[in-house]
Amino acid sequence: MVKITYIQPDGTSRTCVNFEGMTLMHLAVGNLVDGIDAQCGGMMQCGTCHCYIAPEWLDRVGVAPPDERAMLEAIEGVELRPGSRLSCQVQLGEELDGLVVEIPANQPGV
Ligand code: FES
Repeated sequence: MVKITYIQPDGTSRTCVNFEGMTLMHLAVGNLVDGIDAQCGGMMQCGTCHCYIAPEWLDRVGVAPPDERAMLEAIEGVELRPGSRLSCQVQLGEELDGLVVEIPANQPGV
């Protein structure tokens, strides 16, 4: 069992329990976490699942690979940070138990 905490821009947080095989995006959508819209369903085409990995977790989660980073940079209105990731590209495993993720104030086009 893996617990993931999503922090909203207003500071409120929600901790969700991961089931095997889910991504960070699927866990958020399945638990109706605000701010993860995931309009393309995880196909890395929309950017509406953008999130910020907490700095202390970045080593374990990893920074966005070049293609993901390029997509994030190409989307207008996205505030990029070192921990910017598309949550649909982050596979959850036991090593990420306790992960903390911030939700951006706005998602592109939403
Ligand atoms: S759900 Fe569309 S890019 Fe992640």
